[in-house]
Amino acid sequence: MTRQGTESRPVAAEESSSKPLTGTRPEGARDQAEAGVRVREMFGRIAPRYDFLNHLLSLSLDRTWRRRTAKRFAAILSRPNARVLDLCCGTGDLTFALERQANDSKPAHGNVAKVWGSDFALPMLTRAREKAASSRRRALFLASDALSLPFAPESFDLVTAAFGFRNLANYEQGLTEIMRVLRKEGRIGILEFSDPQHGFGPAAFRFYFRHILPRVGGAISGSREAYAYLPGSVAKFPSPPQLSRWMEGVGFADVRYELWNFGSVALHTAEKS
Ligand SMILES: C[S@@+](CC[C@H](N)C(=O)[O-])C[C@H]1O[C@@H](n2cnc3c(N)ncnc32)[C@H](O)[C@@H]1O
Repeated sequence: MTRQGTESRPVAAEESSSKPLTGTRPEGARDQAEAGVRVREMFGRIAPRYDFLNHLLSLSLDRTWRRRTAKRFAAILSRPNARVLDLCCGTGDLTFALERQANDSKPAHGNVAKVWGSDFALPMLTRAREKAASSRRRALFLASDALSLPFAPESFDLVTAAFGFRNLANYEQGLTEIMRVLRKEGRIGILEFSDPQHGFGPAAFRFYFRHILPRVGGAISGSREAYAYLPGSVAKFPSPPQLSRWMEGVGFADVRYELWNFGSVALHTAEKS
């Protein structure tokens, strides 16, 4: 397992304590079922302002992160008749980036990759479908819970999730579902926020993320809860080495991650062997 990019190095065993696999628990949620309902309602409420706030609060870096993620999977997207599922797709921005990359990586024979986006918050999906219709995208969107996917085993060559995996109420179940629907030699890509600990850049980022972003996001979206939940959920989310161990634990091979933007964003990749 390696951390890639300019700081590539093996992950030391002591970097990951053996925390038990858990899941998100928004304030007040007593169990997994309640956590899921709260997350779904919360994202449903912020759907109308979600894209605007994403681009504003990240200074449009979110577009670069998704584009870069899609590029990392150019090889798999160039497989003839590849099938791709973007989980927790929200308003579809990673789904569309994957579709664009698939068109750029056309296979020599067979059809261009087919891309699906799925999410359980209907207002997010409505927005994704409107965007698809207005820009003549082919991606298809469907409502489904990432913890219980309505797909047969071995349906996809690639399964991704951008800033969504952290919100699952049960991470092990999420990874196991992804493993189930992936074909052999299929790949997983999880793009997530991380909580960088050391140095001036990370400290500045943490200050922004914990103190400025929740205020601006809360004021513009009208949901203080959602934008207060964001830094809290990132702080509680496992570190990249820990998530990597969990991915290995459910059987993924070639588990890697790379860190971007002072370590505030991590792209995890692995293969179903
Ligand atoms: C922060 S948004 C990310 C949206 C999109 N992937 C992006 O890059 O902007 C998280 C999304 O995950 C979805 N989500 C969280 N838990 C889910 C679950 N169990 N099943 C399906 N979608 C889920 C939410 O509804 C929300 O749309």
